[in-house]
Amino acid sequence: MDWMEQLQPIMPAEMRGTVVQTVGITVAAAGFPAPVGAVAEIERQGSAPLRAEVVGFKNDLTLLFPYGDRLGVRRGNLVRLARTVRWLRVGPGLLGRVVNAEGLAVDGKPQPLLTDRVYYDAAPPHPCSRPRIDEPLPTGVRVIDGLLTCGKGQRLGIFSAAGVGKSVLLGMLAKYTAADVNVIALIGERGREVNDFLERDLGPQGLAKSVVVVATSNEPAVLRVQAAMAAAAVAEYFRDQGKDVLLLMDSLTRFALAQREIGLAAGEPPTTKGYTPSVFALLPRLVERAGRSSAGAITGFYTVLVEGDDPNEPVADAVRGLLDGHIWLSRKLAGKGHFPAVDVTASLSRLMPDIVSREHNQAALRLRELLAAYRDHEDLISIGAYHRGSNLLVDAAMNLRQETDQFLRQDMSEHAEFSRTLAGLRNLVEHIAGTSPTASPSPESQGQGKALARSGPPAANNMANNTRLSGR
Ligand SMILES: Nc1ncnc2c1ncn2[C@@H]1O[C@H](COP(=O)(O)OP(=O)(O)OP(=O)(O)O)[C@@H](O)[C@H]1O
Ligand SMILES: [Mg+2]
Repeated sequence: MDWMEQLQPIMPAEMRGTVVQTVGITVAAAGFPAPVGAVAEIERQGSAPLRAEVVGFKNDLTLLFPYGDRLGVRRGNLVRLARTVRWLRVGPGLLGRVVNAEGLAVDGKPQPLLTDRVYYDAAPPHPCSRPRIDEPLPTGVRVIDGLLTCGKGQRLGIFSAAGVGKSVLLGMLAKYTAADVNVIALIGERGREVNDFLERDLGPQGLAKSVVVVATSNEPAVLRVQAAMAAAAVAEYFRDQGKDVLLLMDSLTRFALAQREIGLAAGEPPTTKGYTPSVFALLPRLVERAGRSSAGAITGFYTVLVEGDDPNEPVADAVRGLLDGHIWLSRKLAGKGHFPAVDVTASLSRLMPDIVSREHNQAALRLRELLAAYRDHEDLISIGAYHRGSNLLVDAAMNLRQETDQFLRQDMSEHAEFSRTLAGLRNLVEHIAGTSPTASPSPESQGQGKALARSGPPAANNMANNTRLSGR
């Protein structure tokens, strides 16, 4: 941005209004025509001025959403414009630090010395200036690298119910990824979970190359939304320095809930499940900020809570359409102690065929085929009603259960190297091809037996086939 562009949105700082009433959780000011997004300070007797953000207007009044408790605010208090453009100080000194939505360190160590400035609401790169995503980002998590390979600059959703292993998975991604820098946004978490995540899931090894931005559930909704924007802005800063950045956001659902709170307070009409239109306008603006630019790449993983495993929940539904893939964590797998609890047959990385070798893609398709066959017959198998020989693919899946499980499971302390993951996948697929039919097969299963034994790929090597195999 050049100087003129930077100066244009900046308004004269000398603007003053007066508090006239409260509207729900907002404070309404008269004679204060500041724009939406501007930050103001409300003076109070006996305590520090209260910072607040302009979220809308009602008749002649300007609605302000406070950054803290409204205690002590009264009619007639002075409202002063603090900032019309919201920016944040950044620099390499942020690495290894935990900051709040305003970019201030909250880890008890001295504030880092930061020399650069970025904008909370920066526009995403223009679609025409984005290079194609053509290179994988090794994440160090076997099931992702092997079967759901993620490209540098890709955006993936991690969909799951509560307590199924999202935080542990994000911690593994942060620790083992080949990215240069991680930016981790913890939005709307319970206070206790933050330290759990930092100490248990991320550890000193993960933290060293990470910037963690935190806004817990007890903080005002404006700060929870701002924390997500701050994380995107910090990620953009490192990307513009030519780094490969991994942006981990936990959770996008809580970000949407915070924006819903702001929208309702500003008088927006509620739509499905009370979500306001601004939620669905803001989600693409946030996730579009990840991606590849000519300087570097931001690869984004966003967690989405799916309560009651309902995939049609409005936020999950909207987010699925915005991202380049989805990873489903299954409560059933977690219940069996299978971690990471990724349901491969329900998950998809849309860019995988473009970024991995033909051999890798074919091997992944073959393993998916096997997993889908097993899933379709699992109920029969578990009650002992499946007869070996009736489907050769299922037979092979049963024979290789231990090997596939070993490949898909990964302890949180294990780093799976990309090349070893590929070798493991190749090995597994060779086993599938080598598994001989057991009992006398039916004519239908004989056809499948041939398909299983052939050395080449399944006929269609494209995402349509991939989608079919992963059909949920
Ligand atoms: N890779 C793993 N290896 C072993 N155990 C795991 C693994 N991943 C998750 N777990 C187990 O699952 C539990 C829940 O995981 P986690 O805290 O990551 O869930 P979550 O989805 O983030 O929960 P919440 O929705 O409450 O934030 C962990 O305490 C741990 O016992
Ligand atoms: Mg968690």
